[in-house]
Amino acid sequence: MNVTDNIAYVGVNDHDIDLFEGQYDVRANGMSYNSYVIFGDEKIAVTDTVDTHFTDEWLANLDSALAGRTPDYLVVHHMEPDHSASIAAFMERYPEATVVASAPAFKMMVAYFGTDYPERKLMVKEGATLELGGRSLTFVGAPNVHWPEVLFSYVPEDKVLFSADGFGKFGALDSEDPEGWACEARRYYFGIVGKFGKNVQAVLKKAAKLDIAHICPLHGPLLSENLGYYLDLYNTWSSYEPEDKGVTIAYSSVYGNTRQAALELADALKARGQEVSVFDLARDDMSEAVEDAFRYDRLVLASITYAGSIFPHMSTFLHTLAEHAYQNRRVALVEAGSWAPMAAKVMRSQLEAMKDIDICENVVTVKGAVNDETRAQIEALAEELAR
Ligand code: FEO
Repeated sequence: MNVTDNIAYVGVNDHDIDLFEGQYDVRANGMSYNSYVIFGDEKIAVTDTVDTHFTDEWLANLDSALAGRTPDYLVVHHMEPDHSASIAAFMERYPEATVVASAPAFKMMVAYFGTDYPERKLMVKEGATLELGGRSLTFVGAPNVHWPEVLFSYVPEDKVLFSADGFGKFGALDSEDPEGWACEARRYYFGIVGKFGKNVQAVLKKAAKLDIAHICPLHGPLLSENLGYYLDLYNTWSSYEPEDKGVTIAYSSVYGNTRQAALELADALKARGQEVSVFDLARDDMSEAVEDAFRYDRLVLASITYAGSIFPHMSTFLHTLAEHAYQNRRVALVEAGSWAPMAAKVMRSQLEAMKDIDICENVVTVKGAVNDETRAQIEALAEELAR
């Protein structure tokens, strides 16, 4: 697979991984670690490496693309080990090559490899250009997208943007993707980059000044058509604006009564023409619940009262939302408790610490089982949420 006549793909697909970054379930479709070779008239640059389990496969891909030539540079856009783990193997195999990276990336190289290759290093920062003869890479600072050392780079001659984790997506490149790019790209974005909306906004402003025909991320497919679609989604996501109108209902239930209230609320909302997605926080993939909490403009949190507080899965969900800078949404509360319901109070106090959260006036309280009184509260809340 080539990006252009002068830029070749040499990345790998990982179908062995279960949890990407130790927490995101990718067993269904795996993951790709993308790496590219840029052939200038005089010099050859390789961009990034791959996860440690795939070093040999990557070096073989590289050998094949190089067809007997030798790379001059290894450009390191990002030092997280899914991309940097094979740096030492590359430097050993190509002893004449220079490694090109930002100052903080070289500090991380010392931490990971015990050296920053002092005799073979070229430190670059925003605005620097690496000439390859006939083509060049201009570096664009992208701190915290997703680590502080990250650089993007741009090849003006081919209109190619290397975007590090930006525009990345779960799923190996040889997997079927019936849901389309946005579904797993959104889960990836809010899980991994979502906290850094301001940084993404800053780099999008820089990208807007570039004439881009191809975006080459470190995960997921090369993007070459309809780029406005991807850029618009990134603008929406990184500005914390809801992407769609709809209600995410996330519940924690033990004996099924809170679950029943959540499902009856879902039915009441659907009856009012609302788009609804429902998650059991103990059994469903929580990263999908986080994704939909950001995707839609309204969220319902439904939890039992547990040890005078909220159920552990709801606690983790709220913590994850806060950690990812959840904001600018309308949120409703459903609580359950057999003798002293406390969950709504606890969830409210956590929501009040987040930015621009509008908490609905109506609260549903399940005292034991769902009864007529609860159903009246569910109807009132559905009415308020649908307004
Ligand atoms: Fe794909 Fe932040 O590493």
